[in-house]
Amino acid sequence: MKTRFEKIDALRPEKALVQEAGVIIRQGGLVAFPTETVYGLGGNALDEKAAEKIYAAKGRPSDNPLIAHIAHLDMLYELVTEVSEKAEKLMDAFWPGPMTLVFYKKPIVPMGTTGGLDTVAVRMPAHPVALQLIEEAGVPIAAPSANLSGRPSPTRADHVREDLDGRIDMILDSGDVRIGLESTIFDMTVEPPMILRPGYITKEMAEEVIGKVTVDQAILSDQSKVAPKAPGMKYRHYAPKAPLTVVAGEPEMAAEKMKELALQAKAAGKKVGIICTDEMLSRFGEFETKSIGSRFDPDAIGHNLYRILREFDETGAEVIYSESFASDSFGQAIMNRLMKAAGQHKIEVS
Ligand code: TXA
Ligand code: MG
Repeated sequence: MKTRFEKIDALRPEKALVQEAGVIIRQGGLVAFPTETVYGLGGNALDEKAAEKIYAAKGRPSDNPLIAHIAHLDMLYELVTEVSEKAEKLMDAFWPGPMTLVFYKKPIVPMGTTGGLDTVAVRMPAHPVALQLIEEAGVPIAAPSANLSGRPSPTRADHVREDLDGRIDMILDSGDVRIGLESTIFDMTVEPPMILRPGYITKEMAEEVIGKVTVDQAILSDQSKVAPKAPGMKYRHYAPKAPLTVVAGEPEMAAEKMKELALQAKAAGKKVGIICTDEMLSRFGEFETKSIGSRFDPDAIGHNLYRILREFDETGAEVIYSESFASDSFGQAIMNRLMKAAGQHKIEVS
């Protein structure tokens, strides 16, 4: 299959192009498109065959359910049986935006889309291209992150091209995404609602709106021995090709330790990659070093993480050491993804 690659304006998407993309989706094809979190790989959420194509293109296990993306609330009520008052409050506060809610599904949503579950995850993304594409398609769009299964989610259209060129119909390119990590998932079928995947909308932000929210145990426990409730969270995601080790502790001491480890690996003939904050950049001159942003700027760290992991795949790093980052608020999502990429491998210095 030849994949069409089209540039599109992020704020004022060219209507004719969005219409063409909408037709592709309506006819059962696949279009990768930008959202504010990461690029998504879209197909008709009401068409089981489209879901099969998505799984095939990504090489993804088909028990891992897809998120249905909607452009307005009428679409939500077509998909789900019941919307609680708390869900309404969250939607008021955070939609369109980086938040996904899990509800009981109506029969119209095929089991192929939900990985056999009787629930469906729904999100209204905050990106003009995504919203207009859904409008033009006239159906909710099922969209996982537009990466091959096991690779970091794409934060640029080039990342999508690397992974999916020749496997899908079209890629819409509107440049870098804003957030860079996937949406927060809230399970609204339990009381109190439970966070299944941390993201830009934090527990604290949600609790200000609806009161108590819990977090899936599997996210909180470092060594995740507990099976996560979101099926997709159990897979070894976001993995760079080289083994990644996170070095945690007081910043100065952690940097010293990283340098010591890096020198050892270098002496053993290994190509070393370093992920560090701006504040520590000057320490690692002799290694291939990528700065992820200031220690005090979690938005930058979240925005850059997946891109950097991909870049190390390209440069052929054989072993990667990363600083650890603050794990409060958005930092919880950042550390969740970083630790997954590291296969939970962390060294604590004290
Ligand atoms: O930000 C995002 O959410 C991006 C953009 C494209 O919108 N999408 C995304 O999709 O991250 P994906 O497929 O890579 O991740 C979906 C996650 C998986 O962990 C999956 O198991 C979980 O959502 N999920 C989907 N439906 C679910 C359900 N009914 N119950 C529990 N977890 C569900
Ligand atoms: Mg994904």
